Amino acid sequence: MLLKLAILISGRGSNMKAILNAVKKQNIPIKPTVVISNKPTAKGLKIASKLGVQTEIVESKGFQGTRWEYDQKIIHVLSKYDITSKNSLICLAGFMRILSPEFIKKFKNRILNIHPSILPAFPGLDAQRQAIESGVSHSGCTVHFVDEGVDTGPIIVQEIVKIKNDDTEETLSKRILVKEHKAYVKAVKLIAEKKIKVVGRNVKFLS
Ligand code: GAR
Repeated sequence: MLLKLAILISGRGSNMKAILNAVKKQNIPIKPTVVISNKPTAKGLKIASKLGVQTEIVESKGFQGTRWEYDQKIIHVLSKYDITSKNSLICLAGFMRILSPEFIKKFKNRILNIHPSILPAFPGLDAQRQAIESGVSHSGCTVHFVDEGVDTGPIIVQEIVKIKNDDTEETLSKRILVKEHKAYVKAVKLIAEKKIKVVGRNVKFLS
């Protein structure tokens, strides 16, 4: 069964773009179906349209309900495209909202996130700054399944970046981003081609 890909963004959408381009160029067996943003101004929305993918906005600013109530609005949009917990892969690509436990449970092992550090180091906000301030010699990025914690789910792909003496948060973020694009494509491909399975906290590679 061909999985349907939904990508959730909040801004620039460079990871989304890398995934959508790779799916096309590398013939990855997955169907890019919809890009959803919680912000109407997200630059990634235009990029997705240009690449021929449907876009939707589920605005979060000013929303008065609970986290789960907001997430149900996302589920409603997904179902409009016939995306269910059985046929989906949902990629968070700079989606700056925490999902409710209910949503995560419903889409267990179907949601991926990219984080700009080698997890479990430096979870949460400003990961690149955290890395520089801590004095580590290397950082990088991690693609992982989303569980109920913040940046804690089973790890699929990690890429390492060396930190230079004169790195700023900006220069390091830029070099990590190049690796993010590669790592995210690698993870989506592994799942689309059904080459991994989750066993407890670990991702096992099938031969
Ligand atoms: C990326 O660097 C991603 O790792 C980060 O937001 C950026 C989104 O860029 N995500 C997080 O920090 C999540 N904790 P993009 O919109 O160009 O893909």
